[in-house]
Amino acid sequence: MNSAELQHKLFTIIAAEHQLAQTTIKKSVDKDSIYKLLRWLRSEFEPKHHYKEENLIYPKLLKNPRIHEGGPFCMHFFHEHLEERPEEIAKSIIKHPIVYSKPQLFFKKNKSPLEIPLEEHVSMSHVLDYLIENYSFLQDAEFSTIFFKYKRMFFNHNEKEQTCFFHLCNDLLDKTDLDAIYSDWLSNPLICLDGNIFWCSLNLSLLNLKFFSSSQ
Ligand SMILES: [Fe+2]
Ligand SMILES: [Fe+2]
Repeated sequence: MNSAELQHKLFTIIAAEHQLAQTTIKKSVDKDSIYKLLRWLRSEFEPKHHYKEENLIYPKLLKNPRIHEGGPFCMHFFHEHLEERPEEIAKSIIKHPIVYSKPQLFFKKNKSPLEIPLEEHVSMSHVLDYLIENYSFLQDAEFSTIFFKYKRMFFNHNEKEQTCFFHLCNDLLDKTDLDAIYSDWLSNPLICLDGNIFWCSLNLSLLNLKFFSSSQ
């Protein structure tokens, strides 16, 4: 399978939101703009983008028994996940175990490859909260170190989704499922940091996102 087979618009909008977040992160260089960025990630990106992945896509994937097969696209990332576990990185920063919400616990208990992106969501969420809550107390150097770790988790997570998770969805979900998810996805659009609705300004047919390129 190659990137050309990821034809559904759902993958385009998800990858476009990744690109938006990554561009916004890269533009945030001083501590004030980073704080605005963190608040935006907390109020918009996490409760919409990550939430929709977990609530619109994961349940449909889990219904397919083939979810347990994993697949060659995910093997590389599975090893990386074991060597550099986001949960351990988060715990070393927040100094306590990560906590899953009740809906997230459902996916954790139903053992599947979805545990990996889920653990990344939960770990990133805890580090994000830590940075926001301790923004005024952390020394600049410590804040920068933790923010760097957060960014690394975030960028790696997006890359994994585009090189592994998308293919899993493409293999296991049929067009009816993908169309339904796409429609629901657009019904609760992401608001950009400048207040504009993200997808309204997009001409999805003109977007030529390269799922395998490292645009980070
Ligand atoms: Fe995700
Ligand atoms: Fe994502």
